[in-house]
Parts: sequence; structure tokens; C-alpha cells
Amino acid sequence: MLTALQAEPGMSVLEIGTGTGYQAALLAHRLGGQNVTSIEIDAAVAALARKALADADYGALTVVTGDGAAGYPPRAPYDRVIATVGACDVPTAWVAQTKPGGRIVLPWATEYHNGGLVTLTVGGGGTASGGIVGNVAFMLLRDQRSPYTSLRDVIYDEDHALITSTDVHPYGVAGDYNASFAIGVRVPRCRNVYRRPATGEEFQLYFVDAWSRSWACLHYLPNAIEYHVRQFGPRRLWNEVEAAYHWWIGAGRPPASQWRFTVTPAGQGIELT
Ligand SMILES: C[S@@+](CC[C@H](N)C(=O)[O-])C[C@H]1O[C@@H](n2cnc3c(N)ncnc32)[C@H](O)[C@@H]1O
Repeated sequence: MLTALQAEPGMSVLEIGTGTGYQAALLAHRLGGQNVTSIEIDAAVAALARKALADADYGALTVVTGDGAAGYPPRAPYDRVIATVGACDVPTAWVAQTKPGGRIVLPWATEYHNGGLVTLTVGGGGTASGGIVGNVAFMLLRDQRSPYTSLRDVIYDEDHALITSTDVHPYGVAGDYNASFAIGVRVPRCRNVYRRPATGEEFQLYFVDAWSRSWACLHYLPNAIEYHVRQFGPRRLWNEVEAAYHWWIGAGRPPASQWRFTVTPAGQGIELT
């Protein structure tokens, strides 16, 4: 991630998600502590990081307690912004607080797929664009987490579920990095959850939308050529996932690196190049 950041001595950097302070220390070591600002939402975590950094002689860097989704305007603009916490939507504050020509590095995720390492080049006027340069998975920004807590809270009315079958192997829709990246883009607000009993080859792959309380379940049996699917709720999640998977195959199985991100003041999007 630091390689992707392309930070050079003298540049100013904002890090989102201080955590232990380890990465902030690496940044301070390279750029000088006075050029590094790190923001952490959890006050207790921020206090521990401040102490650890001071003990390691990196006390010159600034650790702020606050919501990093808003960036940190008092020390903006920055040459670089790096998030070590994932985002489904790129906070516009990060773009606004980065100098034109500057760079933003963040773990980007969908509810379905977590995720890809994205680098954005800031163009000025609240615009930025870029693509996926790596494979990372991070916890999400606090305000961007879904209401999902457990399968128990989302699966209901199992006796009334619509039952169909599919010949799509679960690996195709949930195991293949590039396919599941594309499905995540095309099927918003859908999480996949794998459940396997302690023994045996059999397992279940759930698809859940905790907002609308829709669910689907594919039951995998070894050596089967078709799998039973049950679905219930306002959305037919399996149908959406299967359609997105077939779309991805029809598009020539594009890798995640072929998607391009664009952020403007009017909104943000991701599309195949
Ligand atoms: C994976 S850790 C960061 C690792 C860290 N950079 C290190 O070197 O140890 C993610 C951190 O992001 C913090 N976080 C989550 N949401 C945040 C937000 N909205 N603003 C700032 N920090 C946030 C979490 O509390 C957690 O400490």
C-alpha cells in the first residue's frame, strides 16, 4: 500500500485509521513526523497509538481523534491520502483535501466482495479517477458498515422459500476473485456467507441483504451437477447474483484491474474499461 502511495520526503500525508500507529510510524520515518497526520475514530485506540509513537520517538506526527470520513481540514491540503480502513463509497472530503495531481490510496469494497486496493489521482474541482492495483481486505469505515449481524437475524420463513436449482458452481460466484468483484459491483447490498458443518464436504452458501431482509441459500453437495437454491424476501438475490455472474462471463471474464473509478462532485461510479 505504501508503494502504491508513491510518497516522497517532504510530502504531506493524511492517514485514515491510525490503529496501532505502526503505518503512521513508517510514514513519519520516511516523510518526517511534521508531515504526517493520522486520524482514528476510537479515542482509546488513538490514545494508545499516541503513546506508542511517542515512545518510539515519532511524537512529532499528529494523531487526531475523529471521523476520518471527513478527512482533517485543519492540515489540508495533502499531497497524499491513505486509508487503512475500507470504504464502499469514497468520501468526497478525501478528494477535496488532496492537492490536484495528488494521490489517494484506499481499500475499496462492496458488501459482496472485500475488496481491492484502489489508487485515485486527484484532478481538481472535486474530481478523481483511478483503478484497482492490488488485492486487500479491511474493516470498513464505521459509518459504511451494513446492518448485518448474523444469519439468524436475516433468515426467516424458510418454509415459504422459493425453491429452484442451478448448475452454477458456488466457487464461480463466491470463490473467483474477479467474478465476485464484478458481482459485487452489479449486485449492491448483497453479502455472501459460507456455512459448513464441522464434518463432510457439503456446505451452504447464503446471500443476504440485511437492509431489505432478503435471503437466498445455495446448498452444495459434492459431485452434484445441480444445486438446490432457496430464496425469500423482497429481492431474489440468487437470481441477481446468477445474472451478474453470466454477465461477467459474457463480458469476457474481465479482471478486477479492468474496472475504472471516477469521483466527481455529482457522484461516483465504477465501470469496465
Ligand atoms: C486496520 S486498522 C488500521 C491499522 C493501522 N493503520 C496500523 O498501522 O495499525 C483500522 C482502524 O480504522 C479505524 N476506523 C474505523 N472507522 C474509522 C473512521 N470513520 N475514521 C477513522 N478511523 C476509523 C478503526 O478504529 C481501526 O483502528
